[in-house]
Amino acid sequence: MTTTLLPDTAHRAKRLVAASERATYDPFTTIDWSIPIDDRAYHLPPEALPLFGTPVWDAMSEPERIAYSRHELSSLCSAGIWFEGILMHLVLRHLYDMPADDPTHRYLLIETADECRHSAMFGEVIRRADTPAYRVPRFLRFAGRIQKASAGRAAGYIAILAAEELLDVANRATMKDERVHPISKHVAKLHVLEEARHMSFARTYLTEVWPTLKRRERFVATLMAPTFVWGITQALVNPAVYKELGIENGARIARRNPLHRRRVVRDLSRLTEYLEGPGAISRFTKPVWRLLGLTGAER
Ligand SMILES: [Fe+2]
Ligand SMILES: [Fe+2]
Repeated sequence: MTTTLLPDTAHRAKRLVAASERATYDPFTTIDWSIPIDDRAYHLPPEALPLFGTPVWDAMSEPERIAYSRHELSSLCSAGIWFEGILMHLVLRHLYDMPADDPTHRYLLIETADECRHSAMFGEVIRRADTPAYRVPRFLRFAGRIQKASAGRAAGYIAILAAEELLDVANRATMKDERVHPISKHVAKLHVLEEARHMSFARTYLTEVWPTLKRRERFVATLMAPTFVWGITQALVNPAVYKELGIENGARIARRNPLHRRRVVRDLSRLTEYLEGPGAISRFTKPVWRLLGLTGAER
């Protein structure tokens, strides 16, 4: 299905192309890379770190916490590259089926180019952060390979929106936090500015395409969505970080950290509230979302 029959999506795409003409950033000329990524400050807000509030965190000195935040930043950038690779793949599959006169054709190419620059920016952070170039765990890389090849368009855009919403909440907190290193703040701000367009497109597209899907397509998307979103949340804790820092059972402690779990639910809440609207979280799949730790007990 092309998007020619989706007038709201076409209109939104036109506005977003105009917005991208006004504000598109080259991270290599916009960010002052002469500032070293050193431990003068936190690299992410402490409350956003998976170990925050655990006994392991309490036992760390301030310099250890800051160094840990640098490794988490590197790992988060690596998860960003992983997911943006999947995302570009999904968007390119959408484009593959689309004639050049489709009203969304140019917009989707711009979105792909945005993500190319973001991944290059994340790669630069990793290369300068004096940490290993963490890769997301092998099982996620494997799952991502299957997902990007097989996801239907609706489930694909739900996954896209999930990753963008999760990172957006974290980036907004990072860019405003005076305790955070200037490079992290600038990277987060640049990402927020450009991702706002992507989320706007994904929401408009999903809202409009959902009622046009066949019942079977809706069913499959509803079923696949929580698994995809769960996979994205798993990338927030990378066991390699804890191994590198010699924190025994660190990944397990982080994943079980109630503060971390509550933060994931909170940061996903804009998405999960939105998905309930068109029925992309249905009465039947709601318990699955809850079971996977993606929504709170009250929803
Ligand atoms: Fe991005
Ligand atoms: Fe994006």
